[in-house]
Amino acid sequence: MIVYDNRATEGFKADWGFSALVELEDELILFDTGASPEVLKENLELAEVAPEEIDVVFISHNHWDHTGGLPFILERNREVELFVPESSCSYFEELLPETAVCVPVSEPVKISERALSTGVLPTGMDNPKEEQALIVGTPSGYLLLVGCAHPGIVEIAKKAVSLVGEELFLIVGGFHLYNSPKEETEKVAEELLNLTRFVAPCHCTGDVGIEVFRRTFGDRFIEVKAGVEIPLEEDVNV
Ligand SMILES: [Fe+2]
Ligand SMILES: [Fe+2]
Repeated sequence: MIVYDNRATEGFKADWGFSALVELEDELILFDTGASPEVLKENLELAEVAPEEIDVVFISHNHWDHTGGLPFILERNREVELFVPESSCSYFEELLPETAVCVPVSEPVKISERALSTGVLPTGMDNPKEEQALIVGTPSGYLLLVGCAHPGIVEIAKKAVSLVGEELFLIVGGFHLYNSPKEETEKVAEELLNLTRFVAPCHCTGDVGIEVFRRTFGDRFIEVKAGVEIPLEEDVNV
């Protein structure tokens, strides 16, 4: 379920940032935490998820709109396991209570039975230098969750495909195209057509970018915003 996004379904708060809950059989993973602890708190309450239930927090990259809600989780859950890009680890270790565990990620690594980090990819920026994405194995296929996709959404998707050895089922998250010319976004969308069956761009993909994907992917485009749940036990209805 998307719990934090620039757009929201009725009742949920919309705010610039991204966070999604991955509910596995025996594990609850929070992917990124949005920008504001208050908004994250409100949206998690609406989703009927208590922060105490979260086993793992996966941080894609150290940008405020993905890490800002973390204090709310740590306040209520002092035993969480935090997976962060290695170069940002010292920053997060200072925030964590002693009972929580900070796991630095560089190479692809298993987060749990069904979840895998792509390992970090260079962002081409000084701050943060690295970003990771999360691959989740579902009965429908592989899901790829991305934060801002600063390394490039095509690069991340290619890395994920090389790790799992097959086309992805769905990519969800911010594709960071809100500043890109439309023609460039169209090229990106065309390339992704061969890497994933479904696509659910949101956050920093931008309104124009989202429309480009809607057109390029047709019935393989899924509209998401805060409050939207994507069931992965069955084929995604679009
Ligand atoms: Fe972002
Ligand atoms: Fe970012």
